[in-house]
Formats: sequence, structure tokens, C-alpha cells
Amino acid sequence: MKQVQLRIQSNVEIADNVFCMVMEGDVGAITAPGQFINIRIGEKFLRRPISVCDVDTVATGTKRIEKEAAEAFGASLYNTPETWNRGRGGDTLSQSGSSKEALTAGITDLKDVPADGDADRSTAASGSGDSAQLQNDCIFREIPPVEGTVTILYKVVGEGTKALAACRRDEVLDVLTGLGNGFDIRFAGDAPLLIGGGIGSAPMMMLAKQLISDGVRPTAVLGFRGKEDMILQGDLYEIGCDVYVATEDGSYGRKGFVTDLMEDLKQQGLEFSYFYACGPSPMLHAVYRASGNLDGQLSFEERMGCGFGACMGCSLETKNGPKRVCKDGPVFLKSELNWD
Ligand SMILES: Cc1cc2nc3c(=O)[nH]c(=O)nc-3n(C[C@H](O)[C@H](O)[C@H](O)COP(=O)(O)OP(=O)(O)OC[C@H]3O[C@@H](n4cnc5c(N)ncnc54)[C@H](O)[C@@H]3O)c2cc1C
Ligand code: FES
Repeated sequence: MKQVQLRIQSNVEIADNVFCMVMEGDVGAITAPGQFINIRIGEKFLRRPISVCDVDTVATGTKRIEKEAAEAFGASLYNTPETWNRGRGGDTLSQSGSSKEALTAGITDLKDVPADGDADRSTAASGSGDSAQLQNDCIFREIPPVEGTVTILYKVVGEGTKALAACRRDEVLDVLTGLGNGFDIRFAGDAPLLIGGGIGSAPMMMLAKQLISDGVRPTAVLGFRGKEDMILQGDLYEIGCDVYVATEDGSYGRKGFVTDLMEDLKQQGLEFSYFYACGPSPMLHAVYRASGNLDGQLSFEERMGCGFGACMGCSLETKNGPKRVCKDGPVFLKSELNWD
């Protein structure tokens, strides 16, 4: 954990009451996707924990690694790779294209991608209204991460996040960085499934980038209340993930929940090597049940007190006794949870 002063570079609304804030400073303590930062807001006694959506550090050389990985695939990071040969094994773009065609009922993204595997997905997908929207909805194309910055996405729900939304460029925030264990990507295998619910989709960006840097092509299933709440679907698509979206009101993608998407993909015979999930507690319980024999990691967004292990205010019951979400988590192995 490191206490640092971060200068706000930008703070813009990207969805209904959801803001994207980029802060500049010493972000070297952030080392894993799924970690969080704890922000002091005004005179509030308790800091507010927010997941790291993306980071670009000189220390970790994230940008360099991503650039090298992208170049290895003959693509720039913000142009979808055209010649994926790794990830789901063999000609993955072709596999992806055909599976998407079979999934046209309810799942709208990428459905116009040709199965020949040679086309640029960005161009090919633009024939579909929803796919075009996927491409247009890129936060990071508009706000590209700069070296020495951390990016967070946050939803305004109360006084603290409301005050955060009122912050302006060049204001300086007192932030604890490098908190939590984060996702462990060593378990990912060659076909990881990323599952994000609402604002819980935020940490999937850094996770997806690291997996892609490792030559793995993730599939992302994202769930939102409605179209106006959607975040990151375009960015994850653009960096090379297969993206499926569900909305509760049916205003975009499949009507339903992320677990419905998981069931659809299973029905289509798609198999995954591992899953990573982040979202509200009811969603995590549902994902746990829907995942069957698939192993994975779940990231919790419990209410917190101190945020660094001192108060037990974020306790979670596990097979190994009570654990602190802030210190022992926020990511827990599925096998640790006694939810059966
Ligand atoms: C590890 C972790 C990562 C998080 N990552 C993000 C993130 O990336 N983006 C984001 O928008 N939010 C995230 N949260 C939730 C965020 O911390 C809270 O929304 C925020 O602290 C609320 O502060 P507030 O002062 O605006 O609201 P408050 O006035 O404190 O509360 C307003 C309302 O929000 C509810 N609430 C407060 N905290 C939480 C919480 N942790 N979970 C669910 N409901 C809560 C309260 O019950 C109340 O109804 C994360 C939480 C944790 C623990
Ligand atoms: S919030 Fe204090 S121990 Fe987790």
C-alpha cells in the first residue's frame, strides 16, 4: 500500500451517472488487475474504494508490454488484431465468427463478422447497428491512457461519489494505491471468460489487456440494467475480446443477465478454461451457481470501513474462516467460497 497525491487529468461522464477519471502521479504500487485504490474525498472520514480500471506505469512498463504484444499480432493496441492465431486455439477469429452467427438470437454484437478470419473485425462489424455502436463506444480511444496514470470508472451513488464527480482537472486527490490482491492471471488457460456486472465491469479492462499481452484472447460477458448504463463493451471489443452484452430491460444485446449469456454460450458448445467475475453480490452468487465445474475467481465490492485490514468491517465468510475483502481480497477463488 502506498499513499500518494494524484493529479486529475480528466473526469468525464461516460454513461448514466458513471464517470471515467484519469489521474496522474506515482501509480507504481498498482501491480495487478482487480486491485483497488482508496480515495480521500473532501472532509469525509472514510475513504472510498474504487477498482483500478486501467493503469500505465513506468515501473511495470504496461504500455511497452501491450505494444509488443499487439505488434506480435501485427496490430496496434487500438486496432483489433486481424491475425489472431492464439487464444482459443487455431484460427480463433474464424471460430468466433461462426459461433457469433449461430448466436444471433439475442446476442447482437459481432454478428456480421465474416467467418473467413481475414477481415478486420472493426470494419466488418460496422454493417450492424449494434456492432457499429460497439466500435463507437470506446472510452479509451477518446481518453487514451498516458504513462504514469491510473484510470477508474465510478458510479455516483451517494455523497462521496457525487463529490468525486464534481472534481475538476488539475485538482489533487489523496489516494492509497496498490490495495488488494487482484486477479491472478496464471490460472487463465487459453480461453478465459471475463464476467462483469454493471460498474463491476471496470477491472475487466486491465485484466483483458494483461491476458491479451500474454497471447490469450478472452471472451467478455457484460451485464447492465439498460443501454444507458453500458460501459467498456466497445473498448474490450476493440482491444480484441469477444464481447457479449445482456441488459435487464432488453434495450441492448440479450435481454437478461450475464448468467443467461453464460448459458447461451454453453448451448453453442463454447468451452472456457477459467472465469473471472466482478459485480454485485447477487450476480456473483448466480455466476457461482451457473459456472458448474468451471473454476474461477470472484471479486467483491463489499462495503468497507478502513480499507486496509484494520477494522474487520468488510468480513466475508469462507471455507477457511472469515476473510477481509480489503486485505485478503477483493478477489477470492471460487474454491474458497462455501456457497454450495
Ligand atoms: C473493492 C471495491 C471496489 C469497488 N470498485 C468500484 C468501482 O470501480 N466503481 C464504483 O463505482 N464503485 C466501486 N465500489 C463501490 C464504491 O466504493 C461505493 O459505491 C462508494 O464507496 C460509495 O460512496 P458514496 O459516498 O458515494 O456513497 P455512500 O453515501 O457511502 O452510499 C450510498 C449508497 O451506496 C451504497 N454503497 C456504498 N458503498 C457500497 C459498496 N461498496 N457496494 C455496494 N453499495 C455500496 C450504500 O449502501 C448506499 O445505498 C467498489 C467497492 C469496493 C469495496
Ligand atoms: S474495511 Fe477495515 S478490515 Fe476491511
